[in-house]
Amino acid sequence: MELNNDYDTWAEIYDQIYSDLTVDVDFYKRLASHSKDKILEIGCGTGRITIPLAQAGSKITGIDLSKNMISILRNKIKEFDLNISCYEMDMKYLSLNEQFALIIIPFNGFQSMLDITEQYKSLTSIYKHMSSGGILALDMFNATTDMFDQDKKIWYQVKEIFDSNNNKNMLINHSSKYNLNNQTICTTLMMEEIISNKITKTTYNDFILRFTNRYESEYLFRNVGFTIENLYGNFALDSFNETSEKMIWILRK
Ligand SMILES: C[S@@+](CC[C@H](N)C(=O)[O-])C[C@H]1O[C@@H](n2cnc3c(N)ncnc32)[C@H](O)[C@@H]1O
Repeated sequence: MELNNDYDTWAEIYDQIYSDLTVDVDFYKRLASHSKDKILEIGCGTGRITIPLAQAGSKITGIDLSKNMISILRNKIKEFDLNISCYEMDMKYLSLNEQFALIIIPFNGFQSMLDITEQYKSLTSIYKHMSSGGILALDMFNATTDMFDQDKKIWYQVKEIFDSNNNKNMLINHSSKYNLNNQTICTTLMMEEIISNKITKTTYNDFILRFTNRYESEYLFRNVGFTIENLYGNFALDSFNETSEKMIWILRK
């Protein structure tokens, strides 16, 4: 079984899997609507959040580590004639020569920082790119006990996509392994292409994310210099508690 831990490979299938994920869009749109200045989105991917924000009138710059993610976003910018600047860039080494009043890192993007050194590097780099009083908003998943109860030997079905043009089905399954010492979760996505009830192709894509708990995250953000404005537990903006699905942080410089 060949494993790819590479956002470039993920880029090809990203929209098929996640384009109907919309629970967070209004939250980021609302935040962006309060900002007259340019917004920076870190880990913009193929533009799932970037595009609706630009369409709602926000001036937005997106950066992403993955060349292929950025290339897909650039094609959409051309196709829909959008006013979005985007660059291939690592959040640990931002170099944009401007400061932003609002920076967002949607959909677990910050959790690609796989140890404390990476977390500090990226947060310090972000801090330098923020104007005084600016806001950093990011969401991460909350590592609940339910999550650890998943059986690593089982493939859980994520979704089934039917491609009517080619009369084929795509089954997306996932399985996760945890490393509690490093606080990482390695998720493998298995994509099975099915034509006439037969599996004709199977591909795998791995991605690793790091989970931190509430108090560790708070300590980290405060150490970089941020004040904590708010912590929500979901996109309905309920207060965070230990069973919350998300940690949605609003941090101020
Ligand atoms: C879960 S995706 C989120 C994409 C998009 N913002 C969304 O909400 O659909 C996380 C993104 O972070 C990007 N990423 C991972 N490590 C990064 C880094 N060091 N610097 C910048 N982007 C990174 C990945 O390439 C990927 O596109």
